[in-house]
Amino acid sequence: MELKIKSEKQYHDYYKKSIENPEKFWGEIANNFTWHKKWNSVVEYDFTIPKIEWFKGAKGNITENCLDRHLETIGKKTAIIWEPNNPKDKAIHLSYNELHKKVSQFANVLKNNGAKKGDRICLYMPMVPELAIAVLACARIGAVHSVVFAGFSSKALASRIDDAKCSILLTADGAFRGSKTIDLKSIADQALEMSSSIETTIVLKRINSDITLTKNQKWWHEEVKNASETCQAEIIDAEDMLFILYTSGSTGKPKGMVHTFAGYMVNTAFTFQNVFQYEKDDVYWCTADIGWITGHSYIVYGPLLQGATTLMFEGIPTFPDGGRFWEVVEKHKVNQFYTAPTAIRALEKFPLELVTKHDLSSLKVLGSVGEPINEEAWHWYDTHIGKGKCPIVDTWWQTETGAMMIASLAGITPQKPTFATLPMIGVQPVLLDENGALIKTNPAEGRLAIQFPWPSIARTIYGNHQRYKETYFSTFKGKYFTGDGALRDENGFYRITGRVDDVVIVSGHNLGTAPIENAIDEHKKIVECAVVGYPHDIKGNALYAYVILYDNVIGDDTLKKEINNLISKQIGPIAKCDKIQFVTGLPKTRSGKIMRRILRKIASNDMENLGDISTLLNPDCVKSIISERL
Ligand code: PRX
Repeated sequence: MELKIKSEKQYHDYYKKSIENPEKFWGEIANNFTWHKKWNSVVEYDFTIPKIEWFKGAKGNITENCLDRHLETIGKKTAIIWEPNNPKDKAIHLSYNELHKKVSQFANVLKNNGAKKGDRICLYMPMVPELAIAVLACARIGAVHSVVFAGFSSKALASRIDDAKCSILLTADGAFRGSKTIDLKSIADQALEMSSSIETTIVLKRINSDITLTKNQKWWHEEVKNASETCQAEIIDAEDMLFILYTSGSTGKPKGMVHTFAGYMVNTAFTFQNVFQYEKDDVYWCTADIGWITGHSYIVYGPLLQGATTLMFEGIPTFPDGGRFWEVVEKHKVNQFYTAPTAIRALEKFPLELVTKHDLSSLKVLGSVGEPINEEAWHWYDTHIGKGKCPIVDTWWQTETGAMMIASLAGITPQKPTFATLPMIGVQPVLLDENGALIKTNPAEGRLAIQFPWPSIARTIYGNHQRYKETYFSTFKGKYFTGDGALRDENGFYRITGRVDDVVIVSGHNLGTAPIENAIDEHKKIVECAVVGYPHDIKGNALYAYVILYDNVIGDDTLKKEINNLISKQIGPIAKCDKIQFVTGLPKTRSGKIMRRILRKIASNDMENLGDISTLLNPDCVKSIISERL
């Protein structure tokens, strides 16, 4: 069965087949890939344990599918275009042949440093080609990559290294970020002091900073020099771990979502192809960082599996000016452009001339991911970037889902502003009310759950299967709970309304409020705090902290700065609070639980819908919080 869907009718036909007989359907789709051994069964699952297995018994390697199988046909085609932070520096084009060699070579470096199948390798790196190469090199030898976004703090890095017991750390001397440089190496060194499992650190020279390496630290270029460019792929089982990627939860500890090889491969390739309608000579650009799931699935794996040319961008949208994205689109004649609503909202604020001076006529498809896209941003994107002729695919999915779950297929299925629209093939979304009852009528609003597994669902939380069960499979029995709320219109189109738990999406980054509160609570002058999200023009949501101070402590701007510095140190600058209000009490239930719902309403200036506060332990504090609201 062809992997490509070419018409709306075919979408409905595939969808029907994927629901009526998932085994047959996905088995036929999986036949499009290279395997060393085919599966014994397509899907086995039990959401109550939970246990999920796809293509059990199959053997292969994802890098053979990303690289080796393309060499004969498109070996000379550009696999990766790398656009550096500084537009004055030269872009790099790596062909499939070259990428294959570089991945094999770095796979040998990893082996020479003792890495073997199943070992966890942590990557804390800038957006340079070596990051993609290293990710693939891990996969080549069956090692498990754990990429940590380079904006995270040393403490966040250390806790992720320890959680996965990574034995090798791959990092760089620094990173360029717009006009700034970030001292990655010293952050990594601090993390190494706080963690215990790393045996070897390999350091890439990116900014040529003046650093010296200590024991067990090696230079990337030295290691690569003597490594062979041939490395046979390790043959792994369908359900062997491919990678771990951490995501925030509603408790302090990040969750290491585990993705396994075969199902992830089949579904990222399938969704990439069909949502973006990639054609043979297209240049595709996803602006995410490889430190997030979007980068894993739709910069590296999905595009390379489909033999696409994928663009990797090292910089930021506003350097050297707010027209950089459009300059890059023009320069590399980008055909599919995939970004986040927060970037669109930020770029809308710049003079339109920064858009119009660039030739964007190469664009065919626009994509959105990471948070709900508001109507205004949708229309700006459509009118000014797509010039009204590019379909917009609003793709809803999660770190946990591995691949897109609800999205339209560009130019094939209908689009509707602010709606992610229809489920992807094989995805069975349902809406439930607060009591867990299925809502069958349309239109409807409820909590979004999925009632059947799809191939790229995360299989567990690393080292904590119980938490996996509690987080995703306990709210609604027999279903995967997404944590999101959604609307469904009369045509069955879905619109995601946002998180219904204590996770806030800030600038497209998924942040749990609990770890931020923990960071603030570490301040000696602070008794207690609560952090909530509130709507923000550009970021989508921003963070609002309510903080109780010890007696005789003055809440001033210096203290606010200290609080944000603490957050930066513990988590990273992305988690800073835009507003910090010093309060004398926080609204609590009689059992002592902070009523974040009320605080969210106050932060959002939605005081009319506070609900009944008379049952609170301390209703009086609400009045004073409102009167001093920022
Ligand atoms: O709330 C949803 C929101 O982002 C959450 C997942 O975050 P993360 O695991 O970091 O993955 C982001 C990239 C896939 C979801 O639970 N979200 C993601 N995409 C959309 C979205 N909300 C609305 N519309 C989207 N297209």
